Amino acid sequence: MKKQKLVVLSGAGISQESGIATYRDKDGLWEKYDPMALATPEAWMSDSALVLEFYNVRREKVLQAEPNPGHLKLAELEQNFDVQIVTQNVDDLHERAGSTRVLHLHGEIRKARSTKNPALVYDIAGADLNIGDYCELGSQLRPHIVWFGEAVPNIEPAVEIIADADILLVIGTSLNVYPAAGLIDYAPQNCRKFLIDPGEFSAHQITDVHVIQEKAGAGMQQICELLSAK
Ligand code: APR
Repeated sequence: MKKQKLVVLSGAGISQESGIATYRDKDGLWEKYDPMALATPEAWMSDSALVLEFYNVRREKVLQAEPNPGHLKLAELEQNFDVQIVTQNVDDLHERAGSTRVLHLHGEIRKARSTKNPALVYDIAGADLNIGDYCELGSQLRPHIVWFGEAVPNIEPAVEIIADADILLVIGTSLNVYPAAGLIDYAPQNCRKFLIDPGEFSAHQITDVHVIQEKAGAGMQQICELLSAK
């Protein structure tokens, strides 16, 4: 029998239980750092070394982190569903948990990109990317991250994926950042929608959604029970 298409839109909240800070929670990244000073093309032009250091510190934390039950249970769903993850996260915890189809909207922190030809993308061996690390064309490498003000190249494929969903699961995102947040509007009319988030969720953004007000690990336990119950 054909497996139902289960599309996941994930955000920083799913990696929170792996020890990776979210952005807008009380202890979030943007509480400590000014994103405009570190995650924009202007920041890169004015102080590349500072920007590289900011991502080096975050990359180290990703390398030390492990997938949590939320990631792992999502990977297990591939046994019974045609699962496609669309993530705003730049960590590789979905992949390390075993998910096989992960589309990154905002880039991947463990990769670097040529500043001369954006099609040239390289894995970063360890934690650090430094001034003087060049691409094969001899230009400085930058983090393979979509900065504020930059285009989101994967948004079109993401729209197609969401528009084809039988089930949409939104997990661990404040739905603050566009165009990613706008993806939920492309879910088909008859798509079953679920949302997992421990925070107060104002349903103004998603209609007829089953809200599970839990952290990702506990919420995914409930999802597995709900989906196996059919
Ligand atoms: N489990 C599930 N959800 C959680 C957990 C948890 N353990 N802890 C926090 N959350 C929820 C928060 O309640 C919040 O709704 O995760 C969400 C995190 O929201 P943000 O910090 O805004 O992260 P996100 O939505 O992924 O941000 C989107 O903003 O700065 C940019 O590019 C960056 O991709 C990021 C984008």
